[in-house]
Amino acid sequence: MAVYRVPPVPPSEITPRAAWLNRRALIAGALASLPVLSAARPAGAAQDPLPLKPGPFGTSEPPTPIKDVTSYNNFYEFGAGKADPSRNSGAFRPEPWTLEVDGLVAKPRTFDLDDLRGFPLEERVYRMRCVEAWSMVIPWVGFPLAALLDQVEPLGSAKYVAFETVVRPEEMPGQKGLFQPLPWPYVEGLRLDEARHPLAILAVGLYGRTLPNQNGAPVRLVVPWKYGFKGIKSIVRISLVEDEPVTSWKRMAAHEYGFYANVNPAVDHPRWSQASEIRIGEGGFFSPSRRDTLPFNGYAGEVAGLYAGMDLAADY
Ligand code: MTE
Repeated sequence: MAVYRVPPVPPSEITPRAAWLNRRALIAGALASLPVLSAARPAGAAQDPLPLKPGPFGTSEPPTPIKDVTSYNNFYEFGAGKADPSRNSGAFRPEPWTLEVDGLVAKPRTFDLDDLRGFPLEERVYRMRCVEAWSMVIPWVGFPLAALLDQVEPLGSAKYVAFETVVRPEEMPGQKGLFQPLPWPYVEGLRLDEARHPLAILAVGLYGRTLPNQNGAPVRLVVPWKYGFKGIKSIVRISLVEDEPVTSWKRMAAHEYGFYANVNPAVDHPRWSQASEIRIGEGGFFSPSRRDTLPFNGYAGEVAGLYAGMDLAADY
């Protein structure tokens, strides 16, 4: 992955949490009085409000302004530039949707959007750290991945969880044409105990509303202690498997992107340092806000135990 830079937004434009909560309530009220919104909506258009309650693992760090969260993205199916996903995802249709959950499970099942949005939705304000050394704080709306896994009853032989993104070249311009940055579908994976960790969620929204296309509509993975590329978007299949699944970036460059991808300031990427990060949306254009990167992205207290006895420099 190349490193791109975006001019950070001046502090005067950062939306305080209280202000957006307030604004969200107002917009939700206004939208509730409108006829049902069409599923076919342009990227960046108003999203439908979701019912939710505050979840655990909160942070006092201010959320990244929604305009940065929704305009500075990695979603190669819509192009490799940071602005491409918001510009090129308008034709993508995230509704209706089905998510197949299969493999080594007692009760394979197809979930539709009502099923997914029917899980008890929580707001999880998570620090997110991209492998390209930038970070954001995002108020996700979602539910623990473990809750979905419980419904399909993984068998004892299941050791890993494999994830797969939709393939729709007709709606995803990055999946057609001469330059194909990755083989499709985008695939990711977790060890089953990682997938069951309460921090790991399936997100169906952000900032209180359904996910914009560029952020992985209608359902994506969020694992905040890992580099962002683990957070696979627009998921159509989740399979319980016995062996470590193939993952897109490891297949592209295994010496640069490992299966575990735990945020680790002590293990540099071969081409750049991982010791610090730029917080998108903070600081001025000439003085972007840079901070030290924390082990497991600040979630070591919760997740370090998953890796007891492992050499994290070898299993990067
Ligand atoms: N999922 C798919 N299907 N395709 C992608 O290109 N990019 C990943 C991840 N999930 C990607 C993806 C990377 S590299 C990052 S950093 C995050 O999505 C970015 O998520 P965001 O744009 O919502 O911040």
